[in-house]
This record gives sequence, structure tokens and C-alpha cells, in this order.
Amino acid sequence: MKVNFHHFGLAGLLLIGVAGLTAQRPAADKGLKDYYQQYFPIGVAVSTQALKNPAETALILQQFNSLTPENDMKMGPIHPEENRYNWGPADAIVDFAQGHKLRVRGHNLCWHEQTPKWLFKNADGSQVSKEVLLKRLHDHIDAVVKRYKGKIYAWDVVNEAIADNPNEFLRNSDWYKICGEDFIAEAFRYAHAADPQAVLFYNDYNTERPEKMERIYKLLKKLKDAHVPIDAVGLQGHWSLVEPTEQELRTTIERFGSLGLKVQVTELDVSVYPWEKDRRARRPDESDAYTPEMQQKQTAQYKLFFKVFRDEAKYMTGITFWNISDHYSWLDTYPVAGRKNHPLLFDENFKPKPAYYEVVKF
Ligand code: G3I
Repeated sequence: MKVNFHHFGLAGLLLIGVAGLTAQRPAADKGLKDYYQQYFPIGVAVSTQALKNPAETALILQQFNSLTPENDMKMGPIHPEENRYNWGPADAIVDFAQGHKLRVRGHNLCWHEQTPKWLFKNADGSQVSKEVLLKRLHDHIDAVVKRYKGKIYAWDVVNEAIADNPNEFLRNSDWYKICGEDFIAEAFRYAHAADPQAVLFYNDYNTERPEKMERIYKLLKKLKDAHVPIDAVGLQGHWSLVEPTEQELRTTIERFGSLGLKVQVTELDVSVYPWEKDRRARRPDESDAYTPEMQQKQTAQYKLFFKVFRDEAKYMTGITFWNISDHYSWLDTYPVAGRKNHPLLFDENFKPKPAYYEVVKF
């Protein structure tokens, strides 16, 4: 269509100017959740501490419509002794969400980290049998999922079961050593029995690296073929200035989607350092500076990732950030203690960064 500027006049030009300005500067009463209302919920991982800080709760309520407890529903924190659950912190997060009409993703039911001390041992200190461990897994999942039935819409049922070593398939965790691979399917069956409405996820990191993606695909296909009640896959999204590529991300979403699974990004952050799974000492030439180059590259990454999420919206049912703002991120202490990172859309003073404006401009 040809636009005739003679007929458009000054008022038209003014309108274009105002529209341009509002596209640059989002309205104060709008947040990520509003810009993405037609696409998917936008969530954030929280602690009970954050929910006591008015600056953080204000930001949460303006920007997000879904919460994930960062640590408080993991088996160690929530089930410290075989016959004792520590419901307080998890309840506080669920109550906050209910009070403000936010969704909750449960994280997580079965993981090799943050497990309670009693889990893999008998009273005499010897290793439990497969039968005992599966019974403990069942009882744990049954209690936790039933407690929050109707309040938690989705669960990360099994977290990070694939090995880091590309030459291995499943991680050689205590779960695997004692149960073989059966614990994975059983965890999904227990969760489905406890809440048939809950959306059940397999969740992992580095899901876009082609070789790991193939191993995860193999696991998910096996579960689907065996009619295990799995609904979705979580790409954790602990990304960086250098990965993943656009093609890797699209391929991953589409390949998992082709199995009939929904896809969420469950733990998004964009580290300004390369991914390092293994802790290493800080190099002498390494500083904490958040340089303009880093920020530019990070802005471009966020812009690209959200464009892909919108393009692939038919598979995507949610994007969750791992922590609220650069005020605090788990990456401030991992893998190098005391090295400040700046991986999120809001800065240390809770203000939107340039990346935020790119994410909401479309
Ligand atoms: O609660 C104790 C506290 O009592 C103690 O004084 C303190 C001293 O170290 O530690 C506290 O526990 C810490 C816990 O976070 C709560 O703050 C643990 O040391 C620390 O290791 C733990 O880190 C968490 C990590 O999972 C555990 O592996 C991070 O906060 C959390 O962000 C991170 O989240 C994981 C996801 O669940 C799965 N995907 C990867 C992601 C990042 O690692």
C-alpha cells in the first residue's frame, strides 16, 4: 500500500511520533506479563526473602504472572527428615501467589542435588534398596503434589537426569545407581496419580547443545512411547553472550514440540561470562566489570531469544526468569564465589535495562 503523506497531515505525523515514543518507553503500569499476554505467562524464581522486600514484590507484581520457588520446594529443604516436612517457606510462596492471582510452577520433585541426608540411607547407614527408594519417592511426591493440588499448575518432575558426559546417557546419580532408569517414569506416574490436572515436565540445562539435545530427545521419546504421563519439557535457559545460536534454539523447540510436548523456558538468564559447569579459579585478567560491549551483546541476545519464543509460540507455554533482578542472582556465587554477574532484565536498582526495552518492543 502506498501512503499519501499529503493527506496524512501534521496530526498524522504527530501520531507517528507519539507511537514511536511509546514503543521506546513502556508505560509505567505495563509489565512483561502484559506485553506477552497473547503469548504465554512470564514468570520468575523467588525466595521467601524476596517476598519480604517491598521493592522486589512491587517489581514482581508489575512484571510477572507466574512464580517458581527457587529452592523451597526441593526435596532437601521441604522434606528434611523422613517423617517431617518443612512446609512453611513453600506455603508462604504459594499463599503470596494465590493472594495476587499468580500461577505457580512447582520445582522440583526428583533431582540429584539438594537431597535430604536420610534419603538414600537405611537407619544403620547402609544404602537403601530400589524398592525402599521408590517407595520414598512415591511418598514424597504424593505428599507434596497433593498439598498444592489446584494451586500449582505445573511441576518439574524430574530435573537434570541426563549425564554431563556426552559419552554417557543418564547421570550416574544415587537415583540411577539404586533404581536404574525406572525412577524417571515412576516419578511421572506418582505425580500424575497425585494430581491428574498438573502439567508434568522434564527439566534440564544445555538443552540446545546438539549432542545433549539428542540424548534428551531419546529419553523423552522413550517416555512418550511407553505412555508415561509427561506433558512438557523445560529448557532451563541458563544461557550466555555466546550461546545458544538462533538455529540451535529453534531446532530444539521444534524437535521437542514434534513429540507432542509443550515447551517452556524455565530458568532464563543470560550470563555475561561463558557457561562453566565446573568451578574454576578466577583468572588474574578477569574483572567484575559489566562493560558496554557485554551489555550490548546481552541486549541483542535477549532480543533474539524473545523473537524466537514469539515465532515458536505454538509450542511455548511459558518463560520464567531465574531470579528477579541483577540485585541478586545465583550466578553471583556460581561457579566462582564473589564474581558479580548481571544476567537479568532489571539492574541492581530494579530498573529495566536496555534488554528489557527490546524484549517488549515488537
Ligand atoms: O539454606 C542454606 C543456608 O542455611 C546456609 O547457611 C547457606 C550457606 O551456604 O546455604 C544455604 O543453602 C544454599 C541454597 O542455595 C539456598 O540459598 C546452598 O548453599 C546453595 O548451594 C543453593 O544454591 C541453589 C542451587 O540451585 C543448588 O544447586 C541456588 O540458590 C539455586 O538458584 C539453584 O537453582 C538451580 C535449579 O534448581 C536447577 N537448575 C539449575 C539452577 C542453578 O543452579
